[in-house]
Amino acid sequence: MMGVAVVLCVVATLQPATAADEDPLQDFCVANTVAGSAAVTLNGRTCKPANEVTAQDFLSTRLRQPATAPAAAAAGAPRATVNLASVDTFPGLNTLGLSIARIDFPANGGLNPPHVHPRATEVLFLVQGTLTVGFVSTTNNTLFQSTLSAGDLFVFPRGLPHFQINLDKHKPALAIGALNSQNAGTSQLALALFGANPPLPGVVLQNALGIDQAEVDALIQSVH
Ligand SMILES: *[C@@H]1O[C@H](CO)[C@@H](O)[C@H](O)[C@H]1NC(C)=O
Repeated sequence: MMGVAVVLCVVATLQPATAADEDPLQDFCVANTVAGSAAVTLNGRTCKPANEVTAQDFLSTRLRQPATAPAAAAAGAPRATVNLASVDTFPGLNTLGLSIARIDFPANGGLNPPHVHPRATEVLFLVQGTLTVGFVSTTNNTLFQSTLSAGDLFVFPRGLPHFQINLDKHKPALAIGALNSQNAGTSQLALALFGANPPLPGVVLQNALGIDQAEVDALIQSVH
């Protein structure tokens, strides 16, 4: 009896964790982008009729170019631009549990500011340049930081705050981030706190950060 319990416990412990979007129940489910189809909501997108699907649905040329504008309002500092191919911009990804981003970093401080992806782990491949990256764990808020050279990989575990910055004075950097969700979601920490609409109550920010309302107002100004 005891032996069976032990074996069951061991088997339960060895169960692999599932940590990506749900598995598809058919070969593909190209997201239906026809006007009106968005009225039907489910956990993902509805499928385009299979007999209307072509090779074009599985092709995206989106990452040929950098994104045109920084991902978040800049407060004077150089910002990275994030060009994301997710289910919203690449309907062929629907139900497949993947998305991918091209991130271009200007030299001398180009920053992808601290943010989280609530639904995905991200593995970053540095194509060009050097990049300082890090994430903060939930245990003791430990910072795990590293400096990457071209060809290196770094992984940001799901849901943990992370950043990337190009500290090279002269050379830009280029990275590709792969995420195990078709819709990873991005929450910029500074924007969530100081760019919320409507704004968080002043007293919440004052008490959370030990600052006065003038400083709260200045921070709200700086992210807009
Ligand atoms: C977290 O901090 C506590 C208190 O300093 C320490 O005892 C513990 O080992 C730390 N845990 C980890 C995983 O570093």
